[in-house]
Amino acid sequence: MWIEWDETLSVGHEAMDREHRAMVTVIRRLFEENGKQPGSPAVQRLLDELLAETRAHFASEEALMREVGYTDTEEHRDEHAALLTELQVVLERARKSPESITIDTLSFITTWFTDHVRVADLALAQFIEDGGPVIRSRAFSEPSGASA
Ligand SMILES: [Fe+2]
Ligand SMILES: [Fe+2]
Repeated sequence: MWIEWDETLSVGHEAMDREHRAMVTVIRRLFEENGKQPGSPAVQRLLDELLAETRAHFASEEALMREVGYTDTEEHRDEHAALLTELQVVLERARKSPESITIDTLSFITTWFTDHVRVADLALAQFIEDGGPVIRSRAFSEPSGASA
């Protein structure tokens, strides 16, 4: 399984897309390095990098959800937490038994990532684009040019 950035991964929100792109790049390098030597130190470093990047990305999405008053925050956060746990498990396995890191392991991460982006993240981006409750109420409660 190979991962390339393409438009089907775009959710139409600039910051989210930018961070997703960066994650795709790390995942692609993971496949490359693991192809050379399964679970090598380079693979372990990349998994570390992916974990840190994912954690930061999830934190920024969760801040965004609070900011816009997103209605499905809890469900979305649960998916984030589950994905982080999985990544940690893979990283630990890579450290203990590097040879157990196969294409299947990486494909699993890839599938989870792309599924999450195409469903949960897309829903969030669309909510923002449609102007969620906070954005809408702001528009109604702050009429421009209100006379004093
Ligand atoms: Fe997300
Ligand atoms: Fe995301």
